[in-house]
Amino acid sequence: MADLKISEDQPRAFTRRDLIKGVIAAGAVSSAAYLFRGATVRAQPSAAGSVERLVTLNVNGQQRRVDVMKQETLAMTLRYKLGLTGTKLGCDRSECGACTVLIDDVPHYSCSILTHTVRGRQIVSIEGLAAADGTLHPVQQGVIDEQGFQCAFCMPGFVMATVGFLKTNPSPTREQLAHGISGNLCRCQDYDKILTAMMRGAENMRSS
Ligand code: FES
Ligand code: FES
Repeated sequence: MADLKISEDQPRAFTRRDLIKGVIAAGAVSSAAYLFRGATVRAQPSAAGSVERLVTLNVNGQQRRVDVMKQETLAMTLRYKLGLTGTKLGCDRSECGACTVLIDDVPHYSCSILTHTVRGRQIVSIEGLAAADGTLHPVQQGVIDEQGFQCAFCMPGFVMATVGFLKTNPSPTREQLAHGISGNLCRCQDYDKILTAMMRGAENMRSS
């Protein structure tokens, strides 16, 4: 009888059923906390000088919500957060133009622009040039027509710079176009053929 008395006074044994119920309950609590976390964060005023990390970008005509660090460059966001790897990173310091994208129709080195500063701007990368049915942009077609690149690492940057330049001068001379895209470098040094391809692209644009 004494043994039985001791057993009744002890806490009930923790069963597998209790464990499962506990896990489900904990999951529900943490899920609810996660769901309402956004509302809590939004309700809090930003500290002076702070940058909101969750930003909306307009990239290739789509609204893209992305979590960015305040020191993050647009090239990094495009390549590593949004998977748009057509934008190349060469020097990562405003020297080669491999990372060129259009921002509000103007070519920019995306390696040297902080992502949070381009909220509300129209960003176009090489992936955004072709039509929805897959038809290449006339300048991209110029590359195909003339086979103007060797390794083509620099190609997206040249194409974006050319597309941007042609918006300001649709009928450039060879010299004018060479000057217009002189901020782009080719490590294969295939400049003459590249220029021929870009001139063909300009011609394609005029006839399209
Ligand atoms: S990678 Fe941006 S200019 Fe070279
Ligand atoms: S074709 Fe190779 S870097 Fe330009």
